[in-house]
Amino acid sequence: MKFPSLKRVAPAAVLDGLTTAVIALDHALRVAYLNSAGETLFSVSRRHAFGQPLAQAIPHFGALESRLRDALDTGSGFIERELRLRRSGDESITIDCTVTPAQLPGAGLLLEMLPVDRHMRISRDELLLAQHEVSRELIRGLAHEIKNPLGGIRGAAQLLEAEFPDSEHREYTRVIIREADRLKNLVNRMLGPNKMPQMATVNVHEVVEHVRQLLEAEASSAVLVTRDYDPSIPEVTADREQLIQALLNIARNALQALPEQRGIIVLRTRTRRQITIGGQRHRLVVQIDIEDNGTGIPEPMLERIFFPMVTTRAEGTGLGLPIAQYLIHAHGGLVECTSRPGCTVFTIYLPLESDDRRKTNH
Ligand SMILES: Nc1ncnc2c1ncn2[C@@H]1O[C@H](COP(=O)(O)OP(=O)(O)O)[C@@H](O)[C@H]1O
Ligand SMILES: [Mg+2]
Repeated sequence: MKFPSLKRVAPAAVLDGLTTAVIALDHALRVAYLNSAGETLFSVSRRHAFGQPLAQAIPHFGALESRLRDALDTGSGFIERELRLRRSGDESITIDCTVTPAQLPGAGLLLEMLPVDRHMRISRDELLLAQHEVSRELIRGLAHEIKNPLGGIRGAAQLLEAEFPDSEHREYTRVIIREADRLKNLVNRMLGPNKMPQMATVNVHEVVEHVRQLLEAEASSAVLVTRDYDPSIPEVTADREQLIQALLNIARNALQALPEQRGIIVLRTRTRRQITIGGQRHRLVVQIDIEDNGTGIPEPMLERIFFPMVTTRAEGTGLGLPIAQYLIHAHGGLVECTSRPGCTVFTIYLPLESDDRRKTNH
């Protein structure tokens, strides 16, 4: 049998097609080759890296240099799982790494690396989405159970009041009515917005600017709200009001966490390519960051802030973030948070391609 269309494929094209990052090093541990996945993983260009010492071209490898030199000297490679490479001031990258002495002329070592952060993040996102779905269902059920008898209790108190208008017990019926109203408001807020989103073409910067103006009006003059926008961002299909609500819920928390002196909130917009949200891959995604230099959120708390009723503020409801998250999910998006003292960043991703949008149930 013949394969008429079988052509010889250039090895470089094959290497560039891999999702595994590949680096070849010469005998002085200089970069002799770097494939496309390697360029993406370490945010370096091939042109820049070629011929340079590895740790200089890709600072992440600084701590690994002596082991690589050993591997070169002894001619024995190694495999390392979940190896954390850190570059100062940058996020760390976790990789599975295989180092092999190269059997190629001019090459000393061959490094194959598969990022594991990405896998971990995707499954974590999916897990969180599922968890929040369950807790939202629970709250909906509970809220309805509370709301129904509440109407009866309030009505009965009103009847009592009408029946005995001059009663000395009127202050008790007032308490019943007031508390029933308070509970109803709380439950309504727990249920979140029940409107269908009104989807339209929305300019992200118009929305972010609107939020910035509201923030500035609410903030004291000691607070600086700065912007860092990518002007090339195309318009998105979204419900403008809901988007504003979500951003405002997040930004208000930032405002409340700021130090008394020199509080800064940064509103940042970017586009990102190839982002996976809830198991769905998107070619192009809008990223909106809300960053503050406030107290930060301690690690154990960070896991829970998107759950309803989680609050550290005396007058807080713990509903701001779950509602923001609900609204972003309804847009097929994702909201995440990273935090350390003095730097908390909430990041919202909104998919740009409408055909990729997750189907939501309303
Ligand atoms: N930018 C932030 N900096 C520090 N803590 C935050 C920030 N955003 C949220 N939090 C924490 O998350 C909790 C939950 O926020 P939220 O759901 O809006 O409820 P609430 O604002 O009513 O407390 C807050 O009480 C606070 O502890
Ligand atoms: Mg809040």
